[in-house]
Amino acid sequence: MAVRDSGPVNPQERPKGSSRSSAPKATWDSSAREYDRFEKKWHYYARVAEGLVRPLGIRRDSRVLELAGGTGACTLVIARRCPLGELVSVERSAEMIRIAQANAKSAGISNVTLLHGDVSDLSSLLAGKTGFEFAVCNSAFWQFPEPGAVIDTVRESLGPGGLFAFNIPSWFRSEKEVRESRRKIAAILTRHGVDPSTFWPRRRHVDYPSQLVKCGMGVIKDTKYRIEMDVKEAEEWRRIPVFAERWGSFRGVSAATAKKIRNEVRRLDLNPRPANSRLRRSWRLLIAGVARTDGGQTQRRRRS
Ligand SMILES: C[S@@+](CC[C@H](N)C(=O)[O-])C[C@H]1O[C@@H](n2cnc3c(N)ncnc32)[C@H](O)[C@@H]1O
Repeated sequence: MAVRDSGPVNPQERPKGSSRSSAPKATWDSSAREYDRFEKKWHYYARVAEGLVRPLGIRRDSRVLELAGGTGACTLVIARRCPLGELVSVERSAEMIRIAQANAKSAGISNVTLLHGDVSDLSSLLAGKTGFEFAVCNSAFWQFPEPGAVIDTVRESLGPGGLFAFNIPSWFRSEKEVRESRRKIAAILTRHGVDPSTFWPRRRHVDYPSQLVKCGMGVIKDTKYRIEMDVKEAEEWRRIPVFAERWGSFRGVSAATAKKIRNEVRRLDLNPRPANSRLRRSWRLLIAGVARTDGGQTQRRRRS
């Protein structure tokens, strides 16, 4: 198992119209250790990954491509399913990928190649490798600024009948508790003259099924699944810097006001549930397929 650091891709090699992702790379670097510590304790992203990967029917000798593998939670879930196959995993954060390599080594996984780079440079990173049977992206797809360009490259890297699966957290909007917390935080922000919409920029709406179809893929599944989470686990998750650090900086307010906001938010009772209760977090699951050249239905292609 090796990490291939492709180094910066020559901008001239980048497909026309592509751009660097706007997600905070440095933040992932600085969050990697805590993300991994959290994951080793709770196995949250591995559980989310199980829900994503299970319906795919990955076989022992399958070839799989993974996007944004992080510290390896989903990487290990996939790699264990295809011990005689191959998994190529792309990740942009050097620190996340360094930990992923250590995790794969201590799990005795040898069928994984970790590629260090941005998914917007996927075709250069793959250097002509194609014919994957599956492509998987666990808990990251909505972070890519140009999902259409990524889907195009994924489609090109899949063989006939290949499947692409990704998930999107839908609990941000659907969970009453989360909505209620946001309402309380928004009230504090407004009181201190911070416009809540600048703080929580509206997540852009992407019509994923249409986007997949536009890129020449057929939507096979668009459904939801749920993951249970301990209240303590959710509390620890919120402390991972990449999810918490927005409380560290406010544009346009003085340091003293920012401090006041942080203190008031900390004092809020955002988690009014009993200590041992369980939260149910819902995830949207999308699976799309590349048409088979023999005219067969992609949906019916289970071969395990
Ligand atoms: C929530 S983590 C999920 C990691 C992993 N899939 C898992 O199951 O634990 C999101 C990951 O997406 C990566 N990421 C975000 N944008 C990326 C991009 N444009 N290219 C490659 N990786 C990216 C981040 O560095 C981070 O490791």
